[in-house]
Amino acid sequence: MKVVRTVAELREARQELAGDVGLVPTMGALHAGHVALLETAGRENDAVVMSLFVNPAQFGDAHDLATYPRDEAHDLRIAEQAGVDVVFAPPAEELYPAGYQTWLEVEDAASGLEGEARPGHFRGVATVCLKLFLLVRPARAYFGQKDAQQVTVVRALVHDLALPLAVRVVPTVRDEDGLALSSRNVLLAPAERERALGLPRALAAGAASSDPVAAARASLNGLDPDYVAVLDLGDAKLLAAAVRIGSTRLIDNVLLEGEIR
Ligand code: PAJ
Repeated sequence: MKVVRTVAELREARQELAGDVGLVPTMGALHAGHVALLETAGRENDAVVMSLFVNPAQFGDAHDLATYPRDEAHDLRIAEQAGVDVVFAPPAEELYPAGYQTWLEVEDAASGLEGEARPGHFRGVATVCLKLFLLVRPARAYFGQKDAQQVTVVRALVHDLALPLAVRVVPTVRDEDGLALSSRNVLLAPAERERALGLPRALAAGAASSDPVAAARASLNGLDPDYVAVLDLGDAKLLAAAVRIGSTRLIDNVLLEGEIR
């Protein structure tokens, strides 16, 4: 596995890859959810490139950026085990050099839900994903169902800019107790983690009801959601919600109808 840190090194490493390349963009703190993306990419492509970049442009909150978990040695071990060919782990100034001023705004897909709760978030996500797509030129890029609105934003930009790649979605990987794996879960104290289980439980109650939003809201017992809403992925309808537990914000969703792909 090659680890590259500059755009120039990435271009060079990319030139040596033959056949279809699968791209898995990540911010590190890798867990079994990321591994599911990496393994799917490995099955469907001749080579896999993973990016490892805590993208400052998608964090509105300086505290959230400062406390985002980072462990590169651990991430490189996991990536290697998962069969990644090239890891792109640049410093911020490599993707946002001095004088950087070009941003990508996706409109409808980025408005509401996460877009409303985190102004500017999807502008940062869309911009970094577009840069990664242009640099890596993947046949397929892999995203998790867990960040479902992110999928709608990335699909919109790929469609609108006619980029020659497929956006693939991998179902959410959960802990045994039902909590969706998230890099931010390590920030939860044990009692907070117990309360956090109310989120997947409420979504499951919603999915089992004829009025999913109302049923999920009614089942949140005490958790105060930023939103509970139905999100249309095109091929699938999801019930999505975000809650704040202490200073940690968690999002999750479940399938209501259709198929994740
Ligand atoms: P990050 O939070 O590191 O997530 C990287 C990818 O892993 C995303 O596509 C996310 O949806 C997926 N993922 C996270 N938890 C998952 C789980 N439990 N099951 C399945 N997939 C999961 O999302 C980002 O980084 C960034 O916004 C990024 C796309 C890298 C742009 O900076």
